[in-house]
Amino acid sequence: MFFIAALLYALLAVVSLGNAAPAPVNSGDGTFFTPGLGACGYNNNESEHVAAVSHQFFDSFGGGSSNPNDAPICGKMATLHYGGKTTTVQIVDRCAGCSGPSDVDMAPAAFNDLADPSVGRIQITWTIN
Ligand SMILES: *[C@@H]1O[C@H](CO)[C@@H](O)[C@H](O)[C@H]1NC(C)=O
Repeated sequence: MFFIAALLYALLAVVSLGNAAPAPVNSGDGTFFTPGLGACGYNNNESEHVAAVSHQFFDSFGGGSSNPNDAPICGKMATLHYGGKTTTVQIVDRCAGCSGPSDVDMAPAAFNDLADPSVGRIQITWTIN
């Protein structure tokens, strides 16, 4: 009987995980930079769909770690929206110069999907996938 109850409980836990609330929608500034060796320890370039999230977001995501290479945010994918356009990036860096907690600094390849580089700074909404 206990076994059955435990099994049902486990099943319920799995089902409710599957129905977890969607990731919160973040709103912040979108900018671009030239990626290199980032805080996650990856080497990236301007042609890749990668981005740095604000230091606040980077440090608080999943608790963080003293070694940024081990930060839980590293390698996660995010979907970014601006003016009816969408792009997907991998989080590879920590944006120390970002002021807003939901600011995202993108590689030019990703920014160009959303806006002309001459715009420089755009108001984006985004979610961690
Ligand atoms: C950027 O990195 C990707 C993946 O490593 C690589 O395929 C591409 O050739 C690189 N592009 C430039 C311009 O270095």
